[in-house]
Amino acid sequence: MPLSPLRVLFVASECVPFIKTGGLGDVVGALPLALSALGHDVRVVIPRYRAVKHIAAEKLPAPFAVPMGPDGRYAAVYRSFVEDTVPVYLIEHDVFFDRDGLYGDDRGDFSDNLLRFAFLSRAALALGDYLDWPIDLLHLHDWQAALTSVFASTLTSAPPTVLSIHNLGYQGRFAAAAAVDLGIEPGAMGASGVLQGKFINVLRGGLVSADALTTVSPSYAKEVKTEAGGAGLHDALSTRSVTGILNGIDEARWDPKTDVNLVQNYDANDLRGKAACKLALQRESGLPERADVPLLGLVSRFAEQKGIDLFIETMDELADEDVQFVVLGSGESSAEEQLAQRAAERDAVACTVGFNEPLSHRIEAGCDLFIMPSRYEPCGLNQLYSQRYGTLPIVRAVGGLRDTVTDGVDGFRFDELSSEALTAAIRRAVTLFHTGPEAFHSMVQTAMSKPMGWDVAAREYETLYRQILRQKA
Ligand code: ADP
Ligand code: GLC
Repeated sequence: MPLSPLRVLFVASECVPFIKTGGLGDVVGALPLALSALGHDVRVVIPRYRAVKHIAAEKLPAPFAVPMGPDGRYAAVYRSFVEDTVPVYLIEHDVFFDRDGLYGDDRGDFSDNLLRFAFLSRAALALGDYLDWPIDLLHLHDWQAALTSVFASTLTSAPPTVLSIHNLGYQGRFAAAAAVDLGIEPGAMGASGVLQGKFINVLRGGLVSADALTTVSPSYAKEVKTEAGGAGLHDALSTRSVTGILNGIDEARWDPKTDVNLVQNYDANDLRGKAACKLALQRESGLPERADVPLLGLVSRFAEQKGIDLFIETMDELADEDVQFVVLGSGESSAEEQLAQRAAERDAVACTVGFNEPLSHRIEAGCDLFIMPSRYEPCGLNQLYSQRYGTLPIVRAVGGLRDTVTDGVDGFRFDELSSEALTAAIRRAVTLFHTGPEAFHSMVQTAMSKPMGWDVAAREYETLYRQILRQKA
């Protein structure tokens, strides 16, 4: 007998093409499409932030009662779609979401983030009844959705939950005094795992109370269970099974053959368009237009995780060599300042501080090499985009970078967390660029031909969903 399609609700704080600050948004926008291609009814719920209000969406007529606080709260639900296929519900509650920024502003994280994402979680649990859509399973993403399983564990009936860890470095930690805001009995609070010493730790609550845990690469699934990789949560993780399912990429959105952001399209068989993209990127960035100089790119959040400090040291170590750097990103202000300063001082360095999606595509296309010296990396998507665009990634062998880049085959890898190791890896790649153009070209073609769509991961998630439903039945 064929298995029946599943009704799955994704709960998340980001979803492409509505809102994205990093790879989480890419995943939440793309994986549901692959699951619906397998026949499942997958939908997404995210907040209706100020930044998404301009996007066309239909307001559902009935007000939405969200059971939070003594009197509950009302929200409005808007519906839109990813690619006309996957329904996305945008929960409007202006007190929480109508402000600039998703998680914080110049002064830091918003002080009411616990309440804001508790609200998202309560809304997710109430949405099935509101829509008259019986949900089989809730798929939660990162700490912002993790309270959904904490709340579900206190209800008499709620769908099973899968929690995907995209990044253990962000946990949602708040003073324990804020616990009253969650509206959970103290006993249930302890059992849910949400308390960690003097803190509420939202992600910990999710790790303890979700029915199944996944993370976004097999290597990271192992790393999170170690003291070094567990970010203080390896105790909660050591007794649980964590399934590592490698992210894919949206091969339609990231395709050098059709990408509308590029001056010229190209594919693995004809790389002339890539050469044009390189010159156009140099021009756009104010760098000397030269085909013969290796152009090295970096697109990143400027955060400790991403090894941005090592990257800056390496730029200095290579200051006298004939290489160009083009950098796009934002984050820690000291990194922004140091990079802007180097761009001002050196002809061979360009830096754009900010978030610029079209430019990120042009950097993937126009560079020869792409740099990711991460301290840890749950999966990483930029190395995959780079490979697809024929830009060989130079990565630290950690987490998903280890699982997706093979040294000398489709990129370059180094192990040690140091600028010297990164510099040495760049030197190796640059030497090959100059002295072994055929070998370099053959690596580019290998990288570009790798299948990296979401279909493989979607089947693994499907298997996991069915397993949980069988166990719960
Ligand atoms: P993370 O989610 O940890 O930031 P990933 O490599 O998984 O890392 O995904 C980052 C995503 O965010 C990629 O799609 C990348 O292109 C994008 N990105 C990061 N910084 C910027 C930026 N400044 N402008 C445009 N896109 C960016
Ligand atoms: C996180 C991780 C990144 C991963 C992304 C999508 O933000 O830092 O490695 O690729 O989520 O899963």
